[in-house]
Amino acid sequence: MHSRPAALALPSRLAALFPILFLGLVALLTASFIAPKAHAADATPATTHTLIIDTDPGADDVIALLFAMASPEQLKIQALTTVAGNVPLSKTSRNARLAREWAKRPDIAIYAGAPRPLLRTPIYAADIHGSEGITGVKVHEPSQPLAEGNAVDYLIRTLRAAPEKSVTLAMLGPETNLALALTQAPDITRGLRELVLMGGAHFNGGNITPTAEFNVFADPHAAEIVLKSGVPITMLPLDLTHKVLTSPERIAKLRGLGNQAGRTVADILDAYVQHDMQYYGLPGGPVHDATVVAYLLQPSLFKGRKVNVEVDSREGLGFGQTVVDWYGGLKKPANVNWIAEGDAQGFFDLLTQRISRLP
Ligand code: RIB
Ligand code: CA
Repeated sequence: MHSRPAALALPSRLAALFPILFLGLVALLTASFIAPKAHAADATPATTHTLIIDTDPGADDVIALLFAMASPEQLKIQALTTVAGNVPLSKTSRNARLAREWAKRPDIAIYAGAPRPLLRTPIYAADIHGSEGITGVKVHEPSQPLAEGNAVDYLIRTLRAAPEKSVTLAMLGPETNLALALTQAPDITRGLRELVLMGGAHFNGGNITPTAEFNVFADPHAAEIVLKSGVPITMLPLDLTHKVLTSPERIAKLRGLGNQAGRTVADILDAYVQHDMQYYGLPGGPVHDATVVAYLLQPSLFKGRKVNVEVDSREGLGFGQTVVDWYGGLKKPANVNWIAEGDAQGFFDLLTQRISRLP
């Protein structure tokens, strides 16, 4: 059989490859057609939580509560529980009811909890949050009352009845309520998926003393009990919140939403951030508690490290300090996901987008 001249041989070789090329093309088209569906199925699902929020409103607490109540698809809020902290319990409870009214979420029950810390002399932060506990806005007595019963009893019965590891507890103030519940009913850890709390300080230093952050300082014995509970914990400390700061533009964007919620949040922030901006010489102020809600909604905005964290509850200069073993030198179990970095613009974009949903 004559060998074909090279030039002529090429088309026949190509022809021989044709069925393979055709099948490859068909496979490619099929894959590309299917891929979008496969890709869509692989898209990271929005984070969702069955959620209880424990809070001491508090200017930044109110913003966090509005943020959370504006995100019902992702945050199935079971109840709010209030605790004494920034201001006395009667005012933190009234302010939680105000936030509920402003968000038009009458479906959310609010239970009042501990009126004072476990052991230490009560302290408050009215110098920061105003005598009524919410800077920058007028307060009134909301029409909808508190739910019957104490927050600690609510936590115990709810967590006992919950499916295993199903409930996320966000903690925005002193940790007294959960500490009391854990002491009375240690079995409730079974119902907890995770704790996400604003508190503590390491690299940043404290905000109520040079070593301590307010929520931990206000009840260090409670924080000790919570940190030793064995429940997965994520902490958003001052190390993070002091990097996620307001700016005139960011506040103006909230005010410019055109809804009452945007104006309320902007008014609260305009007043709330003044102290920290002056005290720390910062270009803007932190919105501490709202970072907890952003973490619940979009954890990818933040970066942390699993470390061992303990609390110093001895009287003295270190009272209420969170001792963070950042490099693991003590070889103790890492009990906390310690968030130290965050996308500030991403945080404000998310906050603003959710506040825009409110009345
Ligand atoms: O240190 C900041 C924390 O203390 C925030 O939760 C603020 O509301 C106050 O409670
Ligand atoms: Ca708070």
